[in-house]
Amino acid sequence: MTPELTFTTTRTDISVPAGEREQILANPGFGAYFTDHMVTATWTKGQGWHGGEVRPFGPLQISPAAAVLHYAQEVFEGMKAYRHADGSVWTFRPDRNAARMARSCERLALPVLSEEDFVAGIRALVEIDQSWVPAYGTGETSLYLRPFMFASEAFLGVRPANEVTFSVIASPAGSYFPGGLKPITLWISQDYARAGSGGTGAAKCGGNYASSLAGQLEGIAQGCDQAVFLDSSTQTYIEELGGMNLFFVTKDGRLRTPALTGSILEGVTRDSILEIAPDLGLKPEESRIGIDEWKDGVASGEITEVFACGTAAVITPVGELRWDGGSAPSTAGAEGGEITRTIRQALLDIQYGVAEDTRGWMTRLA
Ligand code: COI
Repeated sequence: MTPELTFTTTRTDISVPAGEREQILANPGFGAYFTDHMVTATWTKGQGWHGGEVRPFGPLQISPAAAVLHYAQEVFEGMKAYRHADGSVWTFRPDRNAARMARSCERLALPVLSEEDFVAGIRALVEIDQSWVPAYGTGETSLYLRPFMFASEAFLGVRPANEVTFSVIASPAGSYFPGGLKPITLWISQDYARAGSGGTGAAKCGGNYASSLAGQLEGIAQGCDQAVFLDSSTQTYIEELGGMNLFFVTKDGRLRTPALTGSILEGVTRDSILEIAPDLGLKPEESRIGIDEWKDGVASGEITEVFACGTAAVITPVGELRWDGGSAPSTAGAEGGEITRTIRQALLDIQYGVAEDTRGWMTRLA
């Protein structure tokens, strides 16, 4: 697809003072602070994509009748900008995020934005707000990028919107979980499925995350951090956590993850781990994995490590698994197993420019 967008820039005259920004960057947490600018662009049925803008971060004005507020016609992406040792700023596999957003758009009947326009929007924001990318060597910090698209047309009939808004915002990020590498405890959601066959589970749309919240709340009530969702038809096979994919390390050196069934999100981190696994002497395997294989595998010693992965969470060790009437103990120790930590470091080393980028996964932004 050819690029359609150019971006005009209006600089903010009330940027966050440098001292305050440095304080935020020293302890950003996740998703709580936002940079000085944002990107927006509009699509209309008649004009296609137009009106690209870099403008001060602030509220979007939309009609209370905007279709997204009623019918959830919305998609988003999650990416990060990393500072390298020489001060340059890079992102990881943006082509993958652009392609996934295009697939999500098709599923949600939204207009597709070309990879060129998607990356141009991200680049425009990171260029102007590059002082918000945390310094190299400050742990697992980055600038989290959130491109999103929604139906902004004011119309209450149920049909694909004729006016759509694309936007990118950015938020300095540390660890997604406040405990950092502390293993997370998971709850098997038996009453609630995240997605079903033929539904939107493979698309990165807000509705999937909304539908995961009741299961997550149930897990929290049981003292867990997150919920694991199973396939909706048999409640037998492991799917994902809602915001993260899952991996299992076996004692014979396999690295197993649930196969993509159409209701699991195709994580960019998931795909990257499968690709680097052989470099680390592991045999990647995508297959259906029954929840009983997890329960029994921990008991028999067949499963030696479990971890969750995603852009926001990177790789997070998984500890105890709980369900209504039982639990399987953690195999993760205090900070995850050795293989979990090795894969995590291998990925971070590529992202922060410490290891050679032999696959051409990194794109310079500033
Ligand atoms: C990401 O990992 O980027 C996501 O979009 C997941 C969300 C839980 C933050």
